[in-house]
Amino acid sequence: MLLPIITRGDPCFTGLIRYNYQGRPLYFKVAFIYNNLLAIYGESFRMRVIAFANQKGGVGKTTCAVTLADGLARKKLRVLLIDLDPQGHAALSLGFQKSAGLYHFLSLEEPLKNLVVHARPNLDLLPGDKLTEKVKHQIALMDFRKTILSDHLTGLDYDAVILDLAPSLDVLHINGLSASDWVVIPTRLDMLSIDGVKEVLLTMAELSQSGKCYRGYSILPTFFERTTKETLSQFRELVQTFSGHVWPPIPQDASVRAASAQGKTLWETSRNTSALLGFKNGRQFQGGFNQVLERLLEVIRDEKE
Ligand SMILES: Nc1ncnc2c1ncn2[C@@H]1O[C@H](COP(=O)(O)OP(=O)(O)OP(=O)(O)O)[C@@H](O)[C@H]1O
Ligand SMILES: [Mg+2]
Repeated sequence: MLLPIITRGDPCFTGLIRYNYQGRPLYFKVAFIYNNLLAIYGESFRMRVIAFANQKGGVGKTTCAVTLADGLARKKLRVLLIDLDPQGHAALSLGFQKSAGLYHFLSLEEPLKNLVVHARPNLDLLPGDKLTEKVKHQIALMDFRKTILSDHLTGLDYDAVILDLAPSLDVLHINGLSASDWVVIPTRLDMLSIDGVKEVLLTMAELSQSGKCYRGYSILPTFFERTTKETLSQFRELVQTFSGHVWPPIPQDASVRAASAQGKTLWETSRNTSALLGFKNGRQFQGGFNQVLERLLEVIRDEKE
């Protein structure tokens, strides 16, 4: 059974305020009435944090996070991509070396501006590497351990922060989900990956029960093969179960692997490839990163109700 997830319609917003007292951080938990905050400040000023999560490995989390982060940056949004995975693949996918940016940011409390790589115009990257493992052990010993990342993101000056999560259920995964306004769950169209979707939703529901508010979540089918029976039947089932939450699928496409092997994004290597354009359905294209980027922009943009 899935527990309810508190989403953007709910009038609550909780967070931590950090105050340095004699060199030691003190945390105060605060709760605001979300709708009142909107009325006072207006929505468009709030940075959006979007996590790409699925505990199942190899479903396309990093590919989606990197491609869409660069897509948003090309639309002139100021984007920060944070690698929360000790594998450090976000940096490699953008043509940079892995490095211990996340460790220096969360464990050594160094300023973000000294740690980010200016990966592309408008796109900053906070890389990770195997020292990210050490961050997990340190967070596990801290107070307010679920919200350490969210606390560190408070006050940053970006339009969007994209989190690339590791395929694991650990304290950093929980921190990623706790810090997010919106969660995108990439999934292959097979039973085990879809089980990973349910696990992410369960974790979000548990966090919601302890006061976390989400604006929403989306399920992003990846490696879509129109001609494969299992893909199609799993896709239909996904749409029936999660209806409005399922985004247009990303086709399976050899250009994806080729682009990341060169340390480039698809927007740089193959603008006419199916992973970007989607697949042809009659005269129209369906799915692909072009369409998904529009969905993501809707999430980030000011949505007047
Ligand atoms: N749509 C696609 N078509 C073909 N290959 C893809 C597609 N999406 C991703 N890939 C390739 O699949 C592999 C796994 O993708 P990726 O690293 O993005 O998954 P992940 O979920 O981040 O993996 P992990 O769980 O290990 O972090 C990569 O080699 C990537 O280039
Ligand atoms: Mg990954």
